[in-house]
Amino acid sequence: MNRYPLFLDLAGRRVVVVGGGAVATRRIGRLVESGADIVVVSPSTSDELGSLAQRGALRWLARRYETGDLDGAMLVLACTGDPDVDRTIAEDAAASRVWCARADDAGSSPAWVPAVGVMGELTVAVSAGGDPRRASGVRDGIVAALRAGDLHARSGRTGGGEVVLVGGGPGDPDLLTLAGYRALLEADVVVSDRLGPTQLLAGLPADVEVLDVGKTPHGPAARQDDINALLVTRARAGKRVVRLKGGDAFVYGRGGEEVAACVAAGVPVRVIPGVSSVTAAPGLAGIPLTHRGMTQHFVVASGHVPPGDPRCTVDWRALAASNGTLVLIMAVANRGTIAAELIAGGRNRATPVAVIENASTRQQRLAITTLEGIAAEPITPPAIIVVGDVVELASMQTQQAQP
Ligand SMILES: C[S@@+](CC[C@H](N)C(=O)[O-])C[C@H]1O[C@@H](n2cnc3c(N)ncnc32)[C@H](O)[C@@H]1O
Repeated sequence: MNRYPLFLDLAGRRVVVVGGGAVATRRIGRLVESGADIVVVSPSTSDELGSLAQRGALRWLARRYETGDLDGAMLVLACTGDPDVDRTIAEDAAASRVWCARADDAGSSPAWVPAVGVMGELTVAVSAGGDPRRASGVRDGIVAALRAGDLHARSGRTGGGEVVLVGGGPGDPDLLTLAGYRALLEADVVVSDRLGPTQLLAGLPADVEVLDVGKTPHGPAARQDDINALLVTRARAGKRVVRLKGGDAFVYGRGGEEVAACVAAGVPVRVIPGVSSVTAAPGLAGIPLTHRGMTQHFVVASGHVPPGDPRCTVDWRALAASNGTLVLIMAVANRGTIAAELIAGGRNRATPVAVIENASTRQQRLAITTLEGIAAEPITPPAIIVVGDVVELASMQTQQAQP
């Protein structure tokens, strides 16, 4: 039977659902999201529908269906599980010119509910000639392909440029969030850093402008003001600009400055959080940053500016005195002076220390040493340094993992 597919704006419009079981519960989830004025007619309901009624998301008439229940409705979902009642509802609906979707018999129903999948702004609705199993199978296949990025069509919307700060994670593309990946696939312009999932850039369509503003440590880099200006001018030209950062944009990523520049220029800006190397590197090395009975807190500090330098705002002596785990970022060059300061502040010189280089990439390397030994440990950046007893758990887990 040929059907005419349609997406309905149900906000504020009356929808009657007759039945309170599993089918009604499944269908009502999306109705609640649509903002419809929902009335459920059923002597009993599932716990989920009961709590939606308590929260005021729908009205529940705790009784059997009566002719007249459809007054003022534009749509009725007949899901009682009793074909005789569903038929009566369909007849009443036809007499009152209300659209009716029968769960028990789609074939004799003037409307039916498709299998639906939602991925961000995309809604996939599949109908398979009244065969719900086939429809949900196709829906699942499409959603899986969209998630994996195997199926993609860039938005045809024009105008209204924006900047999206995407936290790209520590490097392995698998650690980029789905939201970040979707933003990347939608981008007209990608402004990328040196760290993060840069290998994804090669797979972008040829018409995407890719600009590398990455900075090598102590090497040449685009000035932050120039990066800000680049983001703003491209977005003002109507482009969807993705600013792809390593880790999380708001963790030593200058994301705050870039957002402020966009806001000051009146350019719409969004932030998609990322997996920071601060937690990813220890995690990938099997080091929990907190561990019951061992430590209840961890502190993250940048070692970019050496202790004693007037620009250094980290109180290394105070950190030495605390018994929590220390996570040091950008600390490779100054590791010797930082360790000396921590020992002078009271940390035991034998405190275990882990160095995780290039976390999540093929070059990932874990070295275990002590506070005293860290200065002599050869390290290649980028690296995260973890100081504290939790480091001992890494070797335990590595040993357990051995066959
Ligand atoms: C400018 S900060 C950026 C941090 C980033 N926003 C984040 O959340 O991970 C750069 C530092 O992050 C650390 N880092 C970034 N990626 C890393 C990785 N894959 N492995 C180890 N450390 C990493 C290193 O300490 C490096 O010097």
